[in-house]
Amino acid sequence: MTLPLWYQDAVFYELNVRAFYDGNGDGMGDLPGLLTKLDYLQTLGVDCLWLLPIYPSPLKDDGYDIADYYNIHPDYGTLDDFKALVQAVHTRGMRIITDLVLNHTSDRHPWFQAARADKNSHYRQYYVWSDSGAEYAQARIIFSDLETSNWKWDEQAGQYYWHRFYAHQPDLNYDHPAVQEEMLNVARFWLNLGVDGFRVDAPTYLFEREGTSCESLPETHAYLKRMRRVMDAEFPGRIFLAETNQPPRELRQYFAEGDEFHLAFHFPLMPRLFLALAKEEAAPLRDILAETPPIPANCQWATFLRNHDELTLEMVTDEERRLLWQQYAPDPRMILNLGIRRRLAPLLDNNQRKIKLAHSLLFTLPGAPVLYYGDEIGMGENLNLPDRNGVRTPMQWDATETAGFSAAAPYAPCPAGDYAPARVNVAAQINQPDSLFSFIQHALAIRKKHRAFGRGNLRWLNTPNPAVAAFWRQTPAEKLLLLHNLSGQSQTLDLPATARGAAHDLLTGHWLPISAALTLAPYQFLWLTLED
Ligand code: GLC
Repeated sequence: MTLPLWYQDAVFYELNVRAFYDGNGDGMGDLPGLLTKLDYLQTLGVDCLWLLPIYPSPLKDDGYDIADYYNIHPDYGTLDDFKALVQAVHTRGMRIITDLVLNHTSDRHPWFQAARADKNSHYRQYYVWSDSGAEYAQARIIFSDLETSNWKWDEQAGQYYWHRFYAHQPDLNYDHPAVQEEMLNVARFWLNLGVDGFRVDAPTYLFEREGTSCESLPETHAYLKRMRRVMDAEFPGRIFLAETNQPPRELRQYFAEGDEFHLAFHFPLMPRLFLALAKEEAAPLRDILAETPPIPANCQWATFLRNHDELTLEMVTDEERRLLWQQYAPDPRMILNLGIRRRLAPLLDNNQRKIKLAHSLLFTLPGAPVLYYGDEIGMGENLNLPDRNGVRTPMQWDATETAGFSAAAPYAPCPAGDYAPARVNVAAQINQPDSLFSFIQHALAIRKKHRAFGRGNLRWLNTPNPAVAAFWRQTPAEKLLLLHNLSGQSQTLDLPATARGAAHDLLTGHWLPISAALTLAPYQFLWLTLED
């Protein structure tokens, strides 16, 4: 049986149910609300939705602090609403994945409540305890702005517990067989409800071992492979997408022999897209892709410009990070941990040509693109909101004060000024041929017609112009030439004989004669096929 490799060509769309559309008028987005907006997502042309956590939770980390793995947060609806959503997504020929948070629970989870209350409880071993809080000192602190240790003293338990993220998110103890079984059952539960797979949250940190960084340990890979085997055996065709913020070689391990993750986010590529635009040079892209090892034939990279977290800068050098902060975070409030808590459009100065260029790179470089809700219309952030909440504001459907998101006051205020709903909204863009929305819709439709985008190999053109990212994407059946001017000035490009001739411009549908030298306007890009 050949496995269906649909995810290699897919375009994903990440969304926060709370932020998307309010179906019941309480100011909070919900599953029935999202269901009424599936036509919009289908019109945009995305293939697979990724929902941020929707489970019961005190929402101190926006739902990544789970209090019950087997239910829906009452703000968002019910399990029946979820089933109806999955069915409606599938009826439209789209797919849906959910967040699977394996590493930790909320401290409100009944397991943790039982564990901290009684040393002899069956649940005590579900978590990682210490009398001294001195173990695993080599593990770094991830939320470095907010936490000072990975251990937290618990008065009630009379011991320290281990947490890699917020202190209110105790890590589960994967050395305990019952935890391993329990989390397999969590996966089964959602797969039984019809989800097409999972974005696996923070799979890097499942096990702890003294004297290591406690990241990407062999035990962790072994467990993830085990979960994959269960999924393949009991739910063939479902996918597993890894959120692992690691350098290319370590990321590569998460694909194993094609028997661990189907997809992994290419975290090192993302900041280099911004670096390439800041330096107006293709070199950062070429370098990181040259450093990226090949992956098994049944795998794929997941690529992205922005997501619901800060634009993480853990995968660049100190010098690159300084440059990126300087360019993209002029106001200190924009910095969070090592990253930048802003949305795509403001990062790129609301320059529509630059925003389109960034999307063009995302759609043409290897990988399955993952869009973040609202970026298709150029939404901005609200820096007045704490932590990462500024990039999780209500989807802006129309120009009204509540952005057409809700009949009530939304759970959080939309940005003001240039990015207010009056300026940035779906209604104003959806039937406007020059809008960002229409460009993305068009580009995705073209992308869908050419397998080389999802599956072709990548070969850089050796051009002497450093400001142009020029590359081929090729399958045995077709060969595409992609040209991107990363700079704000016109650039002339000397093309080798293999790239000359009559070219079909995929985005405009026109024929273009290409001779030895070609001039690209500022931030111009071309998707071409050449006549043989
Ligand atoms: C992941 C999520 C982030 C969350 C963290 C802890 O990094 O993307 O939003 O805070 O895990 O669960």
